[in-house]
Order: sequence, then structure tokens, then C-alpha cells
Amino acid sequence: MAESMQGIKRTHTCGDLDKSNVGERVTLMGWVHRRRDHGGVIFIDVRDRYGLTQVVFKPEDEELMEEARRLKQEYVVAVTGTVEPRPDDMINTDLATGEIEVRADRLRILNESETPPFVIEEEAQANDDLRLKYRYLDLRNRVLRDNIVLRHTAAVAVREYLNLRGFLEIETPMLVKRTPEGARDFLVPSRLNPGKFYALPQSPQLYKQILMIAGFDKYYQLPKCLRDEDLRADRQPEHTQIDIEMSFVSEEDVWGLGEGLMAHVWKTAIGAEIETPFPRMTYAESMARFGTDKPDLRFGLEIKEVTELVGETSSDMLKKASASGGAFAIVSGEGAGLSRKNIEALEVAAKKAGAAGLAWVKMSQGKGSGMARFFEAGTLGKIQGLFGVEGDMLLLIVAGDRAVSLKALGAVRLKLAGLCDLIPEGRHCFVWITEFPVFEWDPEEDRWAPAHHMFSMPMDEDIDLLETDPAKVRGRLYDLAYNGIELGSGSIRNHIRSVQERVMKVVGIDKQEAARRFGFLLEAFEYGAPPHGGVALGFDRIAMVLAGKDSIRDVIAFPKTTSGASLMDVCPSEIDDRDLKELHLKLDLPNRESP
Ligand code: AMO
Repeated sequence: MAESMQGIKRTHTCGDLDKSNVGERVTLMGWVHRRRDHGGVIFIDVRDRYGLTQVVFKPEDEELMEEARRLKQEYVVAVTGTVEPRPDDMINTDLATGEIEVRADRLRILNESETPPFVIEEEAQANDDLRLKYRYLDLRNRVLRDNIVLRHTAAVAVREYLNLRGFLEIETPMLVKRTPEGARDFLVPSRLNPGKFYALPQSPQLYKQILMIAGFDKYYQLPKCLRDEDLRADRQPEHTQIDIEMSFVSEEDVWGLGEGLMAHVWKTAIGAEIETPFPRMTYAESMARFGTDKPDLRFGLEIKEVTELVGETSSDMLKKASASGGAFAIVSGEGAGLSRKNIEALEVAAKKAGAAGLAWVKMSQGKGSGMARFFEAGTLGKIQGLFGVEGDMLLLIVAGDRAVSLKALGAVRLKLAGLCDLIPEGRHCFVWITEFPVFEWDPEEDRWAPAHHMFSMPMDEDIDLLETDPAKVRGRLYDLAYNGIELGSGSIRNHIRSVQERVMKVVGIDKQEAARRFGFLLEAFEYGAPPHGGVALGFDRIAMVLAGKDSIRDVIAFPKTTSGASLMDVCPSEIDDRDLKELHLKLDLPNRESP
């Protein structure tokens, strides 16, 4: 039976009390984390979001003991008692409240609890689905709870930083016009406008640009963005961005703001000192040196071109492959210690990333293996010189199409760093990747597609390539990468209608279609659109790396599974025929007869 809280008030949280409170009479409220019966004495750990406090019931008061014996895991209690120092041999230095205990003289059971389906421990062992179904129980564990608190701290730091610099937090709509940005839109039927649909925003991109046209020259928001895309550890169907837009700025202004913001957030949330400014690297350089547009700069292992040196070898296979693009390599001293099995894992990584194979030479204590016999000592010496490596080494080569080879070596580089334990702890390597291409070829659709989104300004010197060589058009587009993760993305925008229409034409949107889909934006450009630009930083990813986690699920209170489901409230779910009718919708499902 649950008792009422009437007449009692919580005086402290379960993380508050220490030696300085000894002798005070206190009332704690929280959950029974653990109960231990010891030779007539009952100990319970009471838990709330602030911590744990040990409460002790002694046999003198029989009625109270009777009550305490009823306590089970996760019962909600109010305990009143006196703070006492713990005996020396019972002090727990791992716990903030570990020097004291509360000697109870009153206990109220505010609510009972079913036996939880898993034990609420720091790192729950239960399977993921069960933890998601009972998310409210999992959120009671310290690690998840701390992550949610850390996320809050980071959000406060973001607002603090931007508010102080004159940014306005402005909300943009959740029901928007369908203007695909890259991923698929989630659609919402309009009951009041039969047959018409809203989309949920993939980002506030167009609204924030229009806010610049409206004259609010510094905007930010922490919006929910919704994308119907395939999910991964760092992707959820709904995610939160730190969305920023500024007028009358160039790249350096946006980067400087982003750097100061990240340094403030890292300092506030985890006490880390971040060095600014961040390095900048063009997309082309990042691809050539690291085989990716989000390089992990915590370690070296840079890629270098070895096409000429491969020409000196006696391997026809390598020579032939490199003739179709080039030969590219990574050399690692530590790699010489890898087993055959490890090297096979590197090969798998290369193939998974699209390479036909991975050629390797291992030189260990003067002995060569792998493709060593195809390489003369002189050639190997030159390769060592190129990479600045002496003595033992592992040489890894991918030859063939340049883009494919670099990407494959980018994947090999990451795998190799992991296998050789080359990634130092506690380093924060931010880098701005700049000058992204505006377009990429979409072989499925057989046309040019925007590489990011199409609202970015092409670089001045490339504008005239729009009609002649779209592949070469670089945009005033940038990403922020951190330890190998894409944290954010932005650009200086196009604010000139005619240039915007030329960009749209490249991706197959003619003037009429542009007017139909984006007319409101193009028209707004005609009423004094200021030059502007901005960035959006993935807030879930930021919280994830601050918390030292590998999945954004660990920093989102109510995340979805990889199939986009919420297991707690069970959605998405079917709707009934009456709802469908009201929305003028008919289902056409393969396994279900239409109503
Ligand atoms: P973009 O699409 O690159 O840019 O998104 C910006 C950042 O948001 C994060 N992010 C995600 N996080 C979790 N789950 C997802 N599904 C997901 N998708 C993106 C990433 C990414 O870098 N409007 C532009 C920004 C701009 O140009 O200002 C945009 O949305 O960290």
C-alpha cells in the first residue's frame, strides 16, 4: 500500500550528505537501490538522480524494522533519520556520501514496485531490447543518467555562449513544405487539406536563411531534425542540431565562432582545454592524405602515392592495377608486429571499402613476407625514405581507381591504428574540412546530385565551371570533423537568385520546377538577401563524444532502434480505419486487405 507524502518534505538529495551534516535530522526520498540484512540490522541504499545514501534500521524499534523488511528493490521511500558517521571500517571512499549513513526513525513507503526485469546497475547487462522497452528503468542507472545530465550541461553551455554573443534563439516550424535535402522526408497528412501533406523538417535550412533575409543577423536553435534514412550508431531518425546562421560573414567568421563554441562546451562539460583555432584542410587534401573527409588526426599513418615506385617492382598485377589510376600506400613500423590474421582483417577492411585487394609487404628482422619478393631492396629503401620509417615495417598498397583506392586505404588506416593500438586517449583533434565539391555523380539516377545541399555558394573561381565541368565546382562548404567523426557541416550560402538557378539546373531542376519547389526562397532572394552563412553541429554526436560513448543512443533519453522503432511506447504503430478515412488515406499493403 502506498502512503502519502503529506506532512513530510524532502530536506536533502541522496548525493548531498557528508560528515559536515552529522547530527542533523534529514528526510530523503528516492528508490530502494539495494537492501541488506545483517545480523538484525537492515541497510538500504536509497537512490535518486544525485546519488546513493546508506540508511540503517536498527532492531530497537520493532515496528520500523517490520516496515523496513517489506522493502524491495525499486520501492519508493521517504526516510527520516539522523546523519551519523560510518564506523571507520565501513567508509566507502568511492561514494560522495560514503562517510555517513542515516539512522532511520521514520519510514514511509510512497510506492511499491514490481521486480524490475533487470538489475539497475551502472552498466546494465540486460539485452538492448529489454533495456529500451523499460527505458525509464535503464535511465535510473548511473551511467545513462550522467549522460543525460552531461547533455543538459552541454546544451546550457551552447546557449550561454551564443546568447552572450548576441544570437537570438528562434524556433522554426515542424510542419514544413516538402523540400528534400538528401534523406527522405517523413510526411504528415493534412486533415484540413485533403490529399495534401506536410513534411517534417530535415533541418531548418531554408527557414534560417529566410531569417537572415528578414534581418535577424545572428540566429541559433537546437532543433529536432527528422530524416527517414538508414540508421547506424551515429544516426537516429530524429536528431538534434546546434543550428547557427549569420549574416555579413565569411568562412573565417563561422569557423571562429564554431571554435569558440566547441572550446566553451568542452571546457564546461568535461573540463577539457581545447586549442583554437582548429586546423583547416581542403577536402582534396584530406582525401589524398587520409582517404576520408573526416580524418582522425589523433595519429599519423598518412597515405602517400607510390605509383612510380610500384613501377619498379616485378609485380605485373600491381603495375596493371596502378595504370588505371595509381598506387597508394601506408607504411607502419608497428604494423611489422601484426599476425597474418590481423593482416587479413586489414584486407577485409580494404575490400569492404571497395578495393579489389590489399597488397602487403612485411619486413621483420631482415626477413620479408607477403609480396616482398616482388620488391628490390632499393625500392623498399625508397619507400621507407618516403614514409620516414626505418627497420621493420608493414607496407600496405592499394592500386587502381584513385578515389576507390584512397577510400579503401582510409578504412585500412583506421583498422590498422586500432590493431596497433595507435590511438591515444584524451586527445581532441578538431579539423575544418573545406572546399567540398558541390556536386557528385549519382550513377543510379544518371545525373549530378548535390554533394551536400544545393544552397551553398560555389567558390568564386569555379562559378563558370557550373555549365562546363560540374565535377570541378568546389563550394564554400565545410565540415567539422573530430577524432574521425563528422560533427558538423555548413557553408556560405548562395544569396543570388541567378546563381542559385544555375546550381539547380545542374542537378536537373529547371526554372519552372525551381519556382514550384523553392519559389518562396528564390523570391525572398529578390528582396535584399544579405550575404550569409552558417553551420549545424550534430548535438547528439557532441554529447556522445563528451560522454566517451560509441553510440548516440547512450545520450538520448528515448532513442529508437536501428529499424526506427521505439520499443517503450511501441511505435510506429498501425492506425485505425477511422483515422485513415478522416485523412482520406487508403493503405495498399501487400499482406492486408484494404478496408
Ligand atoms: P547535415 O545534414 O550535415 O547539415 O547535418 C549537420 C550535422 O547533424 C548531424 N546529423 C545527425 N546526427 C544524428 N543522426 C542523424 N540522422 C544525423 N544527420 C545529421 C551530423 C551532421 O554533421 N542544414 C545543414 C547544415 C548547414 O548547412 O547549416 C545540415 O543539416 O553531426
